Amino acid sequence: MCGIFGSILKKGSAAPIIHAGLKRLEYRGYDSVGLATVDDGKLFIKKDAGKIDDVHRLLDLDAMPGRIGIGHTRWATHGAPYKVNAHPHTDCREEIAVVHNGIIENFADLRAELEAAGHVLKSKTDTEVVAHLIEDSVKSGLSLVEAVRDAAKRLDGSYALAVVSTREPDKIVCARKESPLVVGINESEVYCASDIPAFLPLTKKALIIENGELVVLSEGGYEIRRLSDWSVVPREPEVVDWNPEMAEKQGYPHFMLKEIYEQPDTLRNTLRLQNQFLDLMTEFLDRAGEVFLVACGTSYHACLAASYMFSKLAFLATHPIIASEFIEQHGRSVNIDSTILFVSQSGETADTLAALDHARLRAATVLGLTNVIASTLTRLARVYVCQQSGPEIGVAATKTFTSQLSVLAQLALRLAKKRGKVSHVEIEFLEERLEQIPEFATTILKTQSDKIKALAQKYSKSQCFFYLGRGISSATASEGRLKLMEISYVPSIAYPAGESKHGPISLIEPGFPVVFICPKDETHRAVISNIMEMKARGASIIALCEENDEEIKRYADDFIEVPKGIPEILSPILYVIPLQLFAYYMAMERGLNPDMPRNLAKSVTVK
Ligand code: AGP
Repeated sequence: MCGIFGSILKKGSAAPIIHAGLKRLEYRGYDSVGLATVDDGKLFIKKDAGKIDDVHRLLDLDAMPGRIGIGHTRWATHGAPYKVNAHPHTDCREEIAVVHNGIIENFADLRAELEAAGHVLKSKTDTEVVAHLIEDSVKSGLSLVEAVRDAAKRLDGSYALAVVSTREPDKIVCARKESPLVVGINESEVYCASDIPAFLPLTKKALIIENGELVVLSEGGYEIRRLSDWSVVPREPEVVDWNPEMAEKQGYPHFMLKEIYEQPDTLRNTLRLQNQFLDLMTEFLDRAGEVFLVACGTSYHACLAASYMFSKLAFLATHPIIASEFIEQHGRSVNIDSTILFVSQSGETADTLAALDHARLRAATVLGLTNVIASTLTRLARVYVCQQSGPEIGVAATKTFTSQLSVLAQLALRLAKKRGKVSHVEIEFLEERLEQIPEFATTILKTQSDKIKALAQKYSKSQCFFYLGRGISSATASEGRLKLMEISYVPSIAYPAGESKHGPISLIEPGFPVVFICPKDETHRAVISNIMEMKARGASIIALCEENDEEIKRYADDFIEVPKGIPEILSPILYVIPLQLFAYYMAMERGLNPDMPRNLAKSVTVK
């Protein structure tokens, strides 16, 4: 997830406007930045790795000629955050500049084709292929607009593109497929950006560019065309009444809620990861002597869920371990035959890195799953996968958790396929369901949010909660509990439901809220008896169940429904979303700021 910005002014210099616009997009990515302007038939580019303010101090991003320009603030996905990989990217003749937000899945094939045709590509990015594709079309006589159209049609994956060229120095050409793209209009200027906040201080007149559309910006205004049939799309701008603070959260009151609602998109991103790294990691897991899954907090809960996925699908036994206990618990037994997958959204958590250092000392194989390219974890891991969730600002991990689960499920599926332990029919069924996960997430957010808000009102005074689930849902229960505790400060206990009768049930008294995670899987029957045990002691049952699961609904005091047909090993990805919302609304009911929970930090870099 990166931020793109472009502007065409009637007079004056575009660079300071673009610089300021990128600053307002910095929450989308901040590991490198760059601008391109066109003036007097020449292309001017300034770019480097680092935060915008640091690069500006070095290069003075405002000092560039030209009324027309584009810019980019990056969250690296392909190619580490070095200067050469920063956007804008250009063609061989440095006449065309491109900035891009999204993931081009077929970039490797396009790159090979372009290199075979004599193009020299300088960076490791997926984006650079676009500049060279456009170059080819322009060379064959097409206009810039037609060249961008044809290039866009060759791209698989997601993109929001902005392109300038010295040959047609009076326009910016943009195209969109999935990644967000909006246009801002005022009397004398026109802007394009990844989201409205970027140009809100300049104009409140915004135009949403839809999927599969291309827009040509020029001094006189804009023209939208549909990529599929090249037809012109008439559309008037809307007026947006947001204040700057709301703007940064795209109209959401808090980053946490915004990030919960981003999950359909971030989950879609996880389905577009580069096969080579997933395959390589699968290879290492397949030939491992023993496998540990090591992490802290929410990431540890992803490891817990993954241990069920690897066992059930690939018959691979794995040990999910809390990082701060790893050395004490396994420090002596870890050796050259051990393979350890460290999971950390920040890639900087001290307890996780300490366990990693120990593992390296013992010659174990170190693998990594993270959300931050160039983080310490990526530098120390033998192989790592970057989950593409984009920056997560809210301290409470939400979208990064579901993305971790999606990646771990894909690894388990690949391992199952490799080991031939599960029938092709079942694997195809699971892969199909995995592709549908983003839509399921959208359905839950659309249909259950108000109900969950009402539940938070009903239970906002409760002093303690139980979260219970069986099998893989015990991981979902633990994560739901952590979310509630960390942002609403309500003491809560999570247990594998079967274990609750070995002690914790003594806490139950009339009205004591117990959240049950009960997907319709092999544990369904047993969970119903656990519900009955709790009900018999007067507990208030809040059940997360499949839509139309009348049996569970009959026994529950309150229930939240999740779409039916979600396979057990994928269920945590979706069943956790209502628990994230419940925690959020509980914090709101208790007058707390969900984004800034007390005593916590987004990345815990102390042991
Ligand atoms: C989760 O909401 C918390 N922010 C915290 O438990 C977090 O998951 C933990 O500190 C691990 O962080 P990491 O994934 O960046 O390593």
